[in-house]
Amino acid sequence: MLHSRLTIDPAAAIGPIDRRLFGSFVEHLGRCVYDGIYEPTHATADEEGFRTDVMDLVRELGVSTIRYPGGNFVSGYRWEDGVGPREDRPRRLDLAWHSTETNEIGLDEFASWLEKVGSELMYAVNLGTRGIQDALDVLEYANLRTDTAFARQRVANGRPEPHDIRMWCLGNEMDGPWQLGYSTAEEYARIAGQTARAMRQIDPDLELVVCGSSGAQMPTFGEWERVVLERTYDEVDYISCHAYYEPIDGDLGSFLASAVNMDGFIESVVSTADHVKALRRSDKTIKISFDEWNVWYQSRYNDVDKITDVDTWPVAPRLLEDSYSVMDAVVVGSLLISLLRHADRVTSASLAQLVNVIAPIMTEPGGPSWRQTTFFPFSLTSRLARGQALRVTLDSPTYDTAVFGAVPVVDAVATHDEATGDVSVFLVNRSLTEEVELSVDISAFGAIDAVSGTTLADPDVHAANTLAEPERVAPAENTSVRREGSTVTITLPPVSWSAVTLGAA
Ligand code: AHR
Repeated sequence: MLHSRLTIDPAAAIGPIDRRLFGSFVEHLGRCVYDGIYEPTHATADEEGFRTDVMDLVRELGVSTIRYPGGNFVSGYRWEDGVGPREDRPRRLDLAWHSTETNEIGLDEFASWLEKVGSELMYAVNLGTRGIQDALDVLEYANLRTDTAFARQRVANGRPEPHDIRMWCLGNEMDGPWQLGYSTAEEYARIAGQTARAMRQIDPDLELVVCGSSGAQMPTFGEWERVVLERTYDEVDYISCHAYYEPIDGDLGSFLASAVNMDGFIESVVSTADHVKALRRSDKTIKISFDEWNVWYQSRYNDVDKITDVDTWPVAPRLLEDSYSVMDAVVVGSLLISLLRHADRVTSASLAQLVNVIAPIMTEPGGPSWRQTTFFPFSLTSRLARGQALRVTLDSPTYDTAVFGAVPVVDAVATHDEATGDVSVFLVNRSLTEEVELSVDISAFGAIDAVSGTTLADPDVHAANTLAEPERVAPAENTSVRREGSTVTITLPPVSWSAVTLGAA
């Protein structure tokens, strides 16, 4: 048994937690939309063809914003194909995922689904095969009441009320050679700046996200952010980060420490943004939209290679359907800790993706839906992390990793809801073999009444929830939690994620 000590203090506030930190992502990819959120023949389908069992799970997951419609898909998408009478909508080749897009679901239907699940739409425009005009047209269609062509078209399509989309992504991963419209930083900065300026002529209060690098591993990472921000600083509010984590060559110790990489990634982008701010003597601080993050390694792009027969462009093929283990969920939980630790600058984030495609929610056509292991740390953190994120003081043993060197076995962040007095502590034990007994010093808080703990762990760290066994893994009450005076003690099993809640008296 290892031992670790943690001190939490309401004075160590990082910043308020923006609800948009608990966003997700729905792309027209594989079975995320079709046979995912939408399956008109399913027994649970509502009058619009949306699966109500999936909607229930999305609500339970606690998702704030949802980025749409891609992803790589958006770089070849014609938004107008997806509005108006369904029978007139064209079927199109989707080059990003070598699929057929039927356009049965488009902006209006998706906005309607979002209203039902109670989430906010974050819309990405196509700066791949299209550009400024496309962004202006879809903005007019979505948000305006003017007596002009696209706004009138929305009304004619039965949507008199504008969708009032606040957050807009200026393209997707434009530094990626896989992207239609792959650009240099200079080329992208030019089109993104021009598009942002034009969109602001319609609505100066839009919140605009400029593309950062597709990942910290990209050869132009750092330089890309500097060039793009130098040329768009005044026009944008956020820069995006994307990161997917995987165990490389079976190195589970480094995989469990993936949050070290996320911490460094965020801090590097913040430092570039603040450098540009200083150079420009700007009063504005650029925020981070971590609008694609997850564990993703079982499928990668290999699934797409399997369907590159030129005559085969399937509708909603099974793509990127990773089945997540307990260990993957612990990594997801630790990435949420990293996001909360940077709540002062990361004010928007999207778990990529939401249904079937590297997703916390899975469905079977005509069959059930279920929660993957990664569902649990997300839903519990979304529910419990309220108010201020708190920096913690941690004294933890370390373990050696091939990628990051010595890494603390325990990682943690706390949150404090000043309105209710409730405190939550989110914890991971990254040891593959050892339990950790953790003591938390809560003396800086006033009277604490109820103390409880929930832990996700399993003797088999590779256990997963599947169609055959949808409830194999679930979090359970951690009965080791106890309070003696101003110390709370909890035992953390190896490879585990936990949430401890301290209720104000
Ligand atoms: O989320 C899957 C894909 O990953 C997205 O389409 C793309 O933006 C990223 O490379």
